[in-house]
Amino acid sequence: MKIYSRIFEGGMKVKAHIILGVFVWIIFFSACNESIKEATYSQEYYAEGLSLLESNCFTCHSPKGNESDQVAPSMSALKKQYLRENTTQEEFTRHLSTFLTDPSVEKSKMLTAIKQFGLMPKIDLSETQITQIATYIYNTPLEHSDWFIKHYGEKQENNKDSNTDVQTQIERAQHYALATKSILGKNLLDAINAYGTAGAVSFCNTQALALTDSMSTQLDVRIRRVTDKPRNPKNQATTYFLHEINAYKNQLSEGKKLEANSINIGGKNIYCIPIVTNAMCLKCHGSSEIDTQTRQKLIALYPFDKGTGYAKNELRGIWVIEGLE
Ligand code: HEC
Ligand code: HEC
Repeated sequence: MKIYSRIFEGGMKVKAHIILGVFVWIIFFSACNESIKEATYSQEYYAEGLSLLESNCFTCHSPKGNESDQVAPSMSALKKQYLRENTTQEEFTRHLSTFLTDPSVEKSKMLTAIKQFGLMPKIDLSETQITQIATYIYNTPLEHSDWFIKHYGEKQENNKDSNTDVQTQIERAQHYALATKSILGKNLLDAINAYGTAGAVSFCNTQALALTDSMSTQLDVRIRRVTDKPRNPKNQATTYFLHEINAYKNQLSEGKKLEANSINIGGKNIYCIPIVTNAMCLKCHGSSEIDTQTRQKLIALYPFDKGTGYAKNELRGIWVIEGLE
């Protein structure tokens, strides 16, 4: 892998010219190009690419298309759109990277997708990670899930005896929560901008649960939000989760960094991810920050609302993620 990237680095090319001479270089390059390329993408390299996709992309873009794609187009559909007959891997990587580093309407090749789903949120990835993701998408048949399962299975096998299993699961849980959160957050912002805060309350009322449900279906895991001070009584935390919430509250008051946590209930790992308020939340969960119109709307919809009186940086509740194994 190193050799391959070095050969493509301009500076090394010049050095190689000087040391080996143009002739040797050409022979070497044309003879070895294919085999080097093969060697470049080792199983581990693919496994890493896949793992990045799994935790950063498949949450919204399922590998294969299916009818319940409610969040975003499938990865196969994206690949088709980005890959024309003679698109090289380098071009493909560049186009993907251009969009991913700063998603915008101007950079989009899929305007209809933006109309349908809204613009994709920015995902925090390094250039190296984007290249790995692009390499995986470019070189593997995403639409053949058996390839996917086979390789995915092998990777799981490798991790079997170590603690990394639980670690990766927590990371996956975190990514799921983040993906759901960014969709919820984005839709919420859109709603506030379009209808004002009071108008957006109706959005939360009708859409919030539906959205987490649709994410759950999409991801094949159960995702929900629970709290000790519910606005919607359906989101009341039960004993186990109240315990987690209190632990997080203590950590927060001690100035500790909050981490995702796994608890074992009846032999099953359940993942908890803290939800902390920011300034935006106070428009609907604060005190004086809630304007009269919003307050009236809230009272009408949630006569038993306990989800107010928050300040910034307080624990509002937790994401609960089940069914990851
Ligand atoms: C939170 C959900 C979400 C996640 C996570 C996500 N995407 Fe997207 N993505 C979308 C949505 C929604 C669209 C369609 C709207 C658009 O094009 O911006 C999209 C569109 C795209 C497009 C087409 C862009 C265009 O308009 O030309 C590409 C390519 C893409 N995603 C790649 C990725 C990759 C690679 C990852 C993982 C690193 C990823 N996405 C993670 C939601 C997501
Ligand atoms: C426009 C008003 C509005 C804003 C802004 C808002 N929320 Fe909410 N929030 C609601 C409504 C309405 C519900 C009840 C949704 C339902 O019926 O499921 C809710 C429910 C919740 C719940 C589920 C638990 C419960 O009390 O039912 C959590 C957790 C939550 N909000 C966190 C946040 C956080 C964190 C922010 C800021 C990032 C935020 N909310 C911003 C209106 C808002």
